[in-house]
Amino acid sequence: MTDANRIRIFDTTLRDGEQSPGVALNHAQKLEIAHQLARLGVDVIEAGFPIASPGDLEGVSRIAREVRGPIIAGLARANRADIEAAARAVEDAERPRIHTFIATSPIHMAKKLNMTPEQVVERAVEAVTFARSFVDDVEFSAEDATRSDPQFMARIFRAVVDAGATTINVPDTVGYTTPEEMRALFAFLRGELPAHVILSAHCHDDLGMAVANSVAAAEGGARQIECTINGIGERAGNASLEEIVMAFHTRRDVYAFETGIRTRELYRSSRLVSRLSGMPVQPNKAIVGDNAFAHESGIHQDGVIKARETYEIMNAELVGREAAVLVMGKHSGRAAFRKALGDLGYTISDERVKDLFARFKDLADRKGQIYADDLRALVEARADVPEA
Ligand code: KIV
Ligand code: ZN
Repeated sequence: MTDANRIRIFDTTLRDGEQSPGVALNHAQKLEIAHQLARLGVDVIEAGFPIASPGDLEGVSRIAREVRGPIIAGLARANRADIEAAARAVEDAERPRIHTFIATSPIHMAKKLNMTPEQVVERAVEAVTFARSFVDDVEFSAEDATRSDPQFMARIFRAVVDAGATTINVPDTVGYTTPEEMRALFAFLRGELPAHVILSAHCHDDLGMAVANSVAAAEGGARQIECTINGIGERAGNASLEEIVMAFHTRRDVYAFETGIRTRELYRSSRLVSRLSGMPVQPNKAIVGDNAFAHESGIHQDGVIKARETYEIMNAELVGREAAVLVMGKHSGRAAFRKALGDLGYTISDERVKDLFARFKDLADRKGQIYADDLRALVEARADVPEA
């Protein structure tokens, strides 16, 4: 794999992720997550938005002081106070980055910033120049990029690159774009900017397309993807780190991209973020949801018993989970039922399995999911005593 195909994973769980309504992490929790992100192998940790509060600044500083490995970034709007706060927060990092941004879409410039496009370019250049007076690694984002004029973006990006920005981020701030648009936008921008500049994608999930849009951005030329554990973030959230990484890994025949992520740390990272943020993971969430590797239907269970690949495109162990589970319920088949009894230590004749299987189906109809204790009760009940 060449460096040209290496995708840098920029984790923003502690910044955009923490902007999820209801989530507020204390310093110790942020630090614990940051250490886990380093173990996971992310390239960049966006540790927070230092100007937001003294607590945020201190939280970013502690991570910068204590976490080694990834680049530590602090977010700043394109003004001196924000940039100074970010610079102070990341100054002790092994590899500090300042990430500064300003909006470039007509609606944001006119209604939110009350600035002309000329003024926005000027402000962006000033911000990047000022940030470069503190650190060598400066990222610039054009907020609401996907609703901005691509020609205007090319112009502002060229100007900030001349001022010293080395990573150019293209956020789909409101989760509005499509994979086709994203691929084309990145291909266009790639052609407009010098080769040493890393293009970055930052997608929100308002239409459920954040992961698809991130992957499409990589196809168009992005070599950094901004994402969060469990896809937490503003509104419908950000692109989910674990889904992007496993899409590249599982379909490397198609994408030929590589990340530095240790996939076996994915599940542990997901559990940690869910526990500390108080945001549960939906059961059917890809990769890390409770059901992501659970098989219930008889046809699927029978297939998986014969060969896992029949219904599994990746092994649960690869993402740090226990091997796939066969969930016992009314859709389960006899092969899975027999296996479940065997796993519980019972050796039972075909004749008895037939009888027990009929009772199991009755019970499953009434109860839904069947647990190990239910199976034990079924086997150990005397056949002549009616079930409760
Ligand atoms: O969604 C967004 O535009 C952002 C920027 C600050 C990068 O989070
Ligand atoms: Zn965002």
